[in-house]
Formats: sequence, C-alpha cells, structure tokens
Amino acid sequence: MFKIGVIGCGNMGEAIIRGLTKSKTVKSTDIIVSDIDPDKVELMVEKYNVAGTSSNRRVVENSEIIFLAVKPKDFLKTVEPIKDFFTEEKVVISVIAGISIQKIKEVIKSIVIRVMPNTPALIGEGAIAVSFEDIDPIKREEIFHLLKSLGSVVEVDESLMDTVTGLSGSGPAYVFMFIEGLIQGGIKGGLSYKQASELAVQTVLGAAKLVKETGEHPSVLRDKVSSPAGTTIYALHKLEEKGLKDAVISAVEEATKRSKKLSQ
Ligand SMILES: NC(=O)c1ccc[n+]([C@@H]2O[C@H](COP(=O)([O-])OP(=O)(O)OC[C@H]3O[C@@H](n4cnc5c(N)ncnc54)[C@H](OP(=O)(O)O)[C@@H]3O)[C@@H](O)[C@H]2O)c1
Repeated sequence: MFKIGVIGCGNMGEAIIRGLTKSKTVKSTDIIVSDIDPDKVELMVEKYNVAGTSSNRRVVENSEIIFLAVKPKDFLKTVEPIKDFFTEEKVVISVIAGISIQKIKEVIKSIVIRVMPNTPALIGEGAIAVSFEDIDPIKREEIFHLLKSLGSVVEVDESLMDTVTGLSGSGPAYVFMFIEGLIQGGIKGGLSYKQASELAVQTVLGAAKLVKETGEHPSVLRDKVSSPAGTTIYALHKLEEKGLKDAVISAVEEATKRSKKLSQ
C-alpha cells in the first residue's frame, strides 16, 4: 500500500510530487503516480524515484490519499470509470479548478478536500488555499502537513475559492507583469537587462519577505520608505495617478468573475 497517489503528472501534479519528495514529508517510495501519457509517468519515476503506472485504478486502489491533478474537462473521464475504488476511508485532494466538493461527492464516496495552489508550488513557495468537508481532526492536521510542503496554506470557506483563484491562483502572472515593468524602467534608465532583472526580482522578493516577516501592513512599510520630498513619494504619486492599485483590484475581481463563470 502506498501513502500517496497522484493522478495527472502535468504542471501541478509534478509540483505536488516534487514538493512532497523534496521536503521529505513523504518517502518517494510511498508515492505512486499515473498519467494518460506514459512518457510523463516515466519522467516522474526517473526524476523523483516514485512508483509509476499507466493505471489510475492501481493508484486509487493502492493509496490512502489521492491527489487529483487533471484538467477540469478531464475530471469525469478520469474518475467515473474507477469510481467504485474511491472507498469511504480514502482521502481525495482535488486541485481541479472550478469543481466543487459537492460535485466530486456526487461521483465518489471518499472524503474530499479542495485545494487551490499556484505555480510557485513548483519550488515549494506556493500560496495554497484549502477547503475541508467535515473531517477527523487528526486527518485534517495530516493534510495541512502534506500541503505545507508546497508552500503557505490558508483555510478558506469553499464559497471563496473563486476569489482565491482571482488573487493567488492567477496572481503570479500579475507579479510577473510588475517585474517586467521594473526591468523595463531600469533598462530605460541605462541598466543592462541582467542588472535590471537581478535588481527587480530581488526587490519584489525582499519586499514580499519584509511584509511577511514583520507582519506590518504594506501601507505602513510604504510610508516608512517615503521620505518628505524624496524620490519614492514622487513615484507613488505617479502610480496613484496611473491607477496601479485600482488596476490590481479590478484584475482580481475580473479573474474571480471569470472563475465563477468557468465553474458553472
Ligand atoms: N497550473 C496551475 O497554475 C494551476 C493552479 C491551480 C490549479 N490548477 C489545477 O490543476 C489541475 C491540473 O492543471 P495542470 O496545469 O497541471 O494541467 P496539465 O499540465 O495539463 O496536467 C494534467 C495532466 O493530466 C493528464 N491527464 C489527462 N487525462 C487524464 C486521465 N484520464 N488520467 C490520467 N492523467 C490524465 C494530462 O495528460 P494530457 O496532457 O495528455 O491530456 C496531463 O499530463 C487543473 O485542474 C487545474 O485547474 C492548476
């Protein structure tokens, strides 16, 4: 019997396998993975020393906790043919966007947990939202522990999963765009791409860590670096004038709306 099964070895499936094995939360020999594409299974076996199979049924039959990491369109195709093997004592962790716990429970009897990670989970720095159905507290702690190997974990009511998608699910793309702007600003001022890129990336990383480690509200940290008549306050005025914060709030709202629509 394996501890963990992963069905779907694409971007998210690999992030999960990598996170679990790299953090040593689970021994690689306690993980079994499957994918419709045998080459992807082979790659996971080679890279992470996990067990691999082309049979989703084998994964379900032989694992206590099963991560479902296929695209929403493939959910029914994947689960329906093997639904009887998802017995009541098994735990299913679904990362599939837009498919509710209730919808999954209409097909299988196992305990279902819904998770919304983002791509930095690939390097163990994901932002992960989780919603539980009624679950034994010990199992719940175990799931938290597993998910922490992928990044920071926040529990939310399932009704807020679309907002999570709009914020942290799509969020890395907003940050990439911001980093691109910083780099281009630096290049405009005469820096090379390499110089500008290193400074821009570290600025975003450092600022994010400062917020996290001090626990201060971002506006407090912002005020601390805005000296009277200095460069920063002039730049902040320009960002307000161009509507940066407004644009970001609208981006989160738009992505949330889109997520709601896609899940209907
Ligand atoms: N990527 C993200 O940033 C992100 C963030 C949050 C949540 N998610 C969720 O994570 C899930 C996976 O996303 P992804 O980006 O990892 O997609 P992906 O890269 O396409 O991975 C899905 C994998 O599942 C395989 N597959 C399809 N049907 C299957 C079946 N019946 N049995 C076994 N494997 C099957 C696919 O093979 P083929 O390619 O051959 O079809 C593919 O290798 C999605 O539901 C998505 O909503 C993704």
